[in-house]
Amino acid sequence: MTQDELKRATARAAVDYIAPKLEADSIVGVGTGSTANFFIDYLAEIKGQFDGTVASSEASAERLKGHGIPVYDLNSVDGIQFYIDGADEANPALQLIKGGGAALTREKIVAACSDEFVCIADESKWVPILGDFPLPVEVIPMARSLVARELVKLGGDPVYRQGVTTDNGNVILDVHNLKITEPKALEEAINNITGVVTNGIFALRPADLMLLGTASGVKTFT
Ligand code: A5P
Repeated sequence: MTQDELKRATARAAVDYIAPKLEADSIVGVGTGSTANFFIDYLAEIKGQFDGTVASSEASAERLKGHGIPVYDLNSVDGIQFYIDGADEANPALQLIKGGGAALTREKIVAACSDEFVCIADESKWVPILGDFPLPVEVIPMARSLVARELVKLGGDPVYRQGVTTDNGNVILDVHNLKITEPKALEEAINNITGVVTNGIFALRPADLMLLGTASGVKTFT
């Protein structure tokens, strides 16, 4: 199977997982990226079975609206039943690296508001230790050099993602060569650097469920 076929399979499995649990007033949080896009397309098949969505990026909001699925401002909803999103890496504790699509801050906010975070990914994302994928860090633009120097002190090699501005008007540093053996501690340490908005480690709020697309079917991890 191709990587796209694995992504489609896990996206389909996510819709099948949430569909029987949704109610007329349910809000679904929707992530960002190619796997999330497949999820949005399948979610359209069950629109009408829930109230609407909160999106983690302008791109996902546009795709949802294109399907006629309502998209709400996070501040106008009472809660989010499920958050469905992809990942750049996931470990067996369901801790993640996210932000390859530069949407990490809004993704972390929506995840924090959600009762259940369902991660959807193909098996190439499944790793024993996080860190081969360069860790995205969203930074206030004027603090870029300051934050980069502090990230070097933490053992990483930050690279400015040229030409990318986040939906929040900030920039991204991608931190190479980190072996993230203590994900919670590193998530906190990087978030404590002045000028950092957030970083792409999702360990303090990991996923609750992983639907992993593999060549032998979609595997479920909790
Ligand atoms: C977006 O900022 C990311 O967190 C994505 O969720 C992540 O990059 C996975 O993207 P794909 O589904 O395109 O692999």
